[in-house]
Parts: sequence; structure tokens; C-alpha cells
Amino acid sequence: MDWYVLVLRLIHVIGGVFWAGAYLALVRFFVPSVRSGEPAEGRIMGRLMPKMGPALGGAATLTVISGVLLFTRDFGAASSVSASMIGFGIGGLAATIAWLLGILMFTPLGRRFGWGFTPGAEGNESASPGVTRLGPTVAVLVFVAVLSMSVSRYL
Ligand code: HEM
Repeated sequence: MDWYVLVLRLIHVIGGVFWAGAYLALVRFFVPSVRSGEPAEGRIMGRLMPKMGPALGGAATLTVISGVLLFTRDFGAASSVSASMIGFGIGGLAATIAWLLGILMFTPLGRRFGWGFTPGAEGNESASPGVTRLGPTVAVLVFVAVLSMSVSRYL
């Protein structure tokens, strides 16, 4: 039994499922509901994000690190480029860009440049220009990553 791969895959798949699932639900359902909804919904979001942001960031970071280690192990010594390698590479790249943009959205670094999600009591800052632009872009990248990860082994 290859414990190294086993542990990396557990971290990778559990982290990836949580990151992608929670983030896509957030962008598709929660944020639009807050933007068009009652102040109460904004308050729920305002309470949710300080907990959910770091959890998403942690899961995303673990997914990317374990993904890069798995990629290096699978294809690092390959003498030729295979379709699977390209597939995992495209998905990995999309997820890594999504992760970097997520750092802009959910950390003080992004907030300093006006790209950050800064939930207040009402949570209405989810409509800030940075989040409006970055949120859907990150969702598309995460979706591309999920698609590629699902099929690349069988290409
Ligand atoms: C949204 C983010 C991601 C999700 C949801 C995700 C999900 C998954 C899943 C479910 C698998 C298992 C597929 C299978 O065994 O056929 C997998 C495998 C893999 N992923 Fe990701 N992944 C993500 C990001 C990344 C990143 C950033 C990389 C870095 C290059 C990466 C590289 C890989 C590699 C190389 C494998 C094959 C591992 C093996 O040989 O066992 N993934 N991923």
C-alpha cells in the first residue's frame, strides 16, 4: 500500500469536494439571495463569512498543495506528454488561479485594493465591485477544475 499517495488523495479529494461544493453554492445561491433579499439575509451572511472564508481558504490551500504533489509524483518523471497529464494540468492550473484570486477576495490584501469581501453587520459588502467581478470568475475556474479532475484519468 502506498501511504504517501493514499494520504495525499484523501486530503486532496476531501478538500476539493468541500472547497468546490461550498464555493459554488455560495456564489450561485447565497450571494444573489443576499443582494436581492431582506437585511436579515445579509446579517446571516455577515455572520457566516468570517467562519466560512477561512474554512474555504484552508481547504483550497490543502487541495492545491496535495494536487501539486500528486501531479509531480504522477507526471514529474514522464518522458512524454499524455492526454491525462494535459487534463490534470488544465484542471490544476484553473484551480490554482482560482485559489490565488480567492486569496484576493478573502484576505486583507484584497481588501486593501478594494477586491475583498468585507462582510459587515448587514453583509451587503458582498456586492462590492471586486467581489462582483472576481466571484463568478473564480466559480468558472473551480468548475473547469472539477470537470477536468472528473475525466482526466480516462483520457
Ligand atoms: C477545485 C479543485 C480540485 C478538485 C475538486 C479536485 C478533485 C480531484 C479528484 C476528485 C481527483 C480524483 C480523480 C481520479 O482519481 O480519477 C483528483 C485527482 C487529481 N488531482 Fe485534483 N482537484 C482539484 C485541484 C487540483 C490541483 C490544483 C491540482 C494540481 C495540479 C490537482 C491535481 C490532481 C492530480 C495530479 C490528480 C491525480 C491523483 C492520482 O494520481 O491519484 N488537482 N482531483
